[in-house]
Amino acid sequence: MSKRIEVNDLNVYYGSFRAVEGITLEIEPRTVTAFIGPSGCGKSTFLRTLNRMHEVIPGARVEGEVLIDGNNLYGPGVDPVLVRRQVGMVFQRPNPFPTMSIKENVLAGVRLNNRKLSKSDADDLVEKSLQGANLWNEVKDRLDRPGSGLSGGQQQRLCIARAIAVSPEVILMDEPCSALDPISTLAIEDLIEELKQEYTIVIVTHNMQQASRVSDKTAFFNIAGTGKPGKLIEYADTTTIFSNPTVKATEDYVSGRFG
Ligand SMILES: Nc1ncnc2c1ncn2[C@@H]1O[C@H](COP(=O)(O)OP(=O)(O)O)[C@@H](O)[C@H]1O
Ligand SMILES: [Mg+2]
Repeated sequence: MSKRIEVNDLNVYYGSFRAVEGITLEIEPRTVTAFIGPSGCGKSTFLRTLNRMHEVIPGARVEGEVLIDGNNLYGPGVDPVLVRRQVGMVFQRPNPFPTMSIKENVLAGVRLNNRKLSKSDADDLVEKSLQGANLWNEVKDRLDRPGSGLSGGQQQRLCIARAIAVSPEVILMDEPCSALDPISTLAIEDLIEELKQEYTIVIVTHNMQQASRVSDKTAFFNIAGTGKPGKLIEYADTTTIFSNPTVKATEDYVSGRFG
């Protein structure tokens, strides 16, 4: 299931403002890659280009290539809806549909994709997805209750269950723990560790300990100043980025000297 991502000379714009410049990197399947860097350096913007979510903003556009197993997401005739099914996303604030039940939240993405499901297939998919998100045992007796009744950490795992229910190959997470308490954060980190057996995962985090705990590779982004584009400064094994980075700015950042 899991796929390789290759980015070639990607530039990302909001209108005439170039927010991200010249990104080239490769992400191996079944790995966790962390994006780190100071606020405003384009981590979220770049992440959203990996499933064509960036272009939903008016005036927003992309130059360059993003290949998933060799196929350019930005090639002619590529359907962004199919791309987003292949590359799922989990956001900073858990965003279950508040009036929908836990079960319907898990199925929401599948229903959007117009897949007709029998009741027993739907039940199986709900169980499998909630198991996959380490949430099943906590909610199996209340699947018909609203998703909004869960704790923040449970809601985030519900959103992960919703993302994996459509069988994506890649999961993007934008600061998925920043609204969560430390216990829920550890539950999500454990889950990421398990999910990487099957998926390629990219996570934006401002938490250095989290990046070093969960990721195999780390990409450090930075900006030269306000109004300047974000750039990829250094990309390497996480242990290298945290213990022996090549670039001084990386060392300053990971050691807490700025950002
Ligand atoms: N919807 C938007 N419209 C215009 N500019 C945006 C938009 N979203 C982000 N930006 C700008 O793009 C740059 C990168 O932002 P962002 O990707 O959110 O950074 P990060 O996630 O690293 O904090 C910033 O200068 C930000 O102001
Ligand atoms: Mg961001």
